[in-house]
Amino acid sequence: MAEELINKPRHIAIIMDGNGRWAKQQGMLRAFGHERGVRTVREVVEYCVEHEIPYLTLYAFSTENWNRPALEVKALMELLVKFLKKEADELDKNNVRLGAIGSLERFPEKVREVLLSTIDRLKHNTGTTLTLALSYGAREELVQATRRIAEEVKSGKLNTEAVDERLVQRYLYTADLPDVDLLIRTSGEQRISNFLLWQIAYAELYFAEVLWPEFTKEHLKEALLNYQKRERRFGKTSEQLK
Ligand code: FPP
Repeated sequence: MAEELINKPRHIAIIMDGNGRWAKQQGMLRAFGHERGVRTVREVVEYCVEHEIPYLTLYAFSTENWNRPALEVKALMELLVKFLKKEADELDKNNVRLGAIGSLERFPEKVREVLLSTIDRLKHNTGTTLTLALSYGAREELVQATRRIAEEVKSGKLNTEAVDERLVQRYLYTADLPDVDLLIRTSGEQRISNFLLWQIAYAELYFAEVLWPEFTKEHLKEALLNYQKRERRFGKTSEQLK
């Protein structure tokens, strides 16, 4: 219930893990797990809309995922396109704004086209911002930011002294997003896997035991209740926070 959610995270990021293992448990191909995973995506977005969480970022495809078997990569592309086409109306109705972070130029033109046109269609919405991390890798993000900053310094547009945390933030894919407050990973694995390394500097980490296709609104609510109980000190003492 919305009224229980005092002290809500402003930005939730999720590493959606366990589709493959879930499919294997069912004796099915990995792609089936991803298909079920889309259901969970829908639920989680709905929950964030219902509870007015301003930012939700989902790790949908990492730079390393390009190394998966071609058939699985193809299935993931198709699922993404299907999701965007099928959910656009609902997202719009729910006032959701869509964004994407990552090296999008690596995607086939057709996929990029659908993605960019859906982003464009939803750009005036003012509710939850759903960001899909696609062909995303945090180290790559930091490298491209560093390269662009170096170029600006070289060309004289920027002084080295002007390079501070705020400036670096502006060169990240997430320039328009606030820092992550709560990072969730499903499937019991306790790793960050090259996701939002800069943006999670002060995030609370929450590891759910269930596989992504089994993750429900109830599980998300549990994560949020757990988050509420934590004291975020940002390097200060408890006394200083009082
Ligand atoms: C990790 O499970 C999941 C992924 C690599 C892809 C996540 C994609 C989806 C949930 C569906 C598409 C998303 C959208 C937004 C339409 P895994 O395959 O690594 O599972 P495993 O660790 O059990 O093998």
